[in-house]
Amino acid sequence: MYTSRITGVGAYVPENVVTNDQLSKLMDTNDAWIQERTGIKERRHIKKGDGNNTSVMGVKAATIALERANLKPVDIDMIVFATLSPDMYFPGGGVQVQEMMGMRTIPALDVRNQCSGFVYALSVADQFVKTGMYKHVLVIGSENHSGGLDFTTRGRGVSVIFGDGAGAVVVSRNEDGKGGILSTHLHSEGKHKDELALQGPSTNYWVPQIIAENPTEDIPYYPYMNGTFVFKHAIVRFSEVIKEGLKANNLSVEDIDMLIPHQANLRISQFVQHKFRLPDDKVFNNIQKYGNTTAASIPIALTEAWEKGKIKEGDLVVLAAFGSGFTWGSVIIRW
Ligand code: ACO
Repeated sequence: MYTSRITGVGAYVPENVVTNDQLSKLMDTNDAWIQERTGIKERRHIKKGDGNNTSVMGVKAATIALERANLKPVDIDMIVFATLSPDMYFPGGGVQVQEMMGMRTIPALDVRNQCSGFVYALSVADQFVKTGMYKHVLVIGSENHSGGLDFTTRGRGVSVIFGDGAGAVVVSRNEDGKGGILSTHLHSEGKHKDELALQGPSTNYWVPQIIAENPTEDIPYYPYMNGTFVFKHAIVRFSEVIKEGLKANNLSVEDIDMLIPHQANLRISQFVQHKFRLPDDKVFNNIQKYGNTTAASIPIALTEAWEKGKIKEGDLVVLAAFGSGFTWGSVIIRW
């Protein structure tokens, strides 16, 4: 059995900054409400004509991660692509990345675990590297939320939270065997699947039915979120799964050098931080600038923390996520 480590990180966000004030011109909302409830000041949205979509942003983030890992696209043995906002209903974003980056005919797997997508994808990559089947796996989280949100007052409880962007890491065989990804911990509870969901278009609720049931109304194919319910479950599951990961490695909260929570909502991150009594310099948040970018949020935050020198060799880095499904998970890394 081998171990794996992250050998390269990269991130990309579209140039187009959308402030809370700009959103307040589209719907009945305001900067104070958004900042107080979520911590978000601005987010990035793809702009028509800027050439971005989910897979293109994924390629941009992956290109940086590969360079930092000192690898060429031809060196990659597998792609794991996490998104809830693919460019097409099928096929997935992984095959688009394989084509755009000129990779060999390697496997490309799409993961659909929403806000936990990156943690699930990283765990999949870790398993393939650990067993010795692959040496270098590219993991991408990328989201184009702005293309599918309701920017009228009806959608304000959801649409102010989400932003576009992508992050990527290269997971490689840990040649010296020291540290690396120590463990991953994944969970789900499908009974809450409707609390944060996009019901259609889907095979349950296909386009002709949607149109037939809503002949005059604006067609309801926007995400639904029971915000308070999600909040309550998120803070419990985040805490549980971080503790589970630490316990599995005989570690304690005091051992954490950097916690990178999925950037769901600054209030959720702060709740977890206070619960574990972690100082500000041991929790990394950048939701203020990018909003919640779902599967992309952890790799974007990880990249930014690394670029700012906040993650050093030997540090204990903890990643944790919670989201639609519900699904949640954690990853414990000795950097
Ligand atoms: N601007 C102004 N007012 C708003 C907005 C808005 N953007 N959105 C909702 N409101 C109004 C509501 O209509 C409501 O008005 P009413 O009292 O007249 O009915 C009032 O504000 C309060 O609404 P709530 O939904 O109760 O507000 P709450 O304090 O719960 O905050 C929020 C909403 C921010 C979504 C919160 O529930 C939350 O953070 N939930 C966690 C979910 C989360 O973070 N999701 C992220 C995605 S999931 C994930 O990544 C895990």
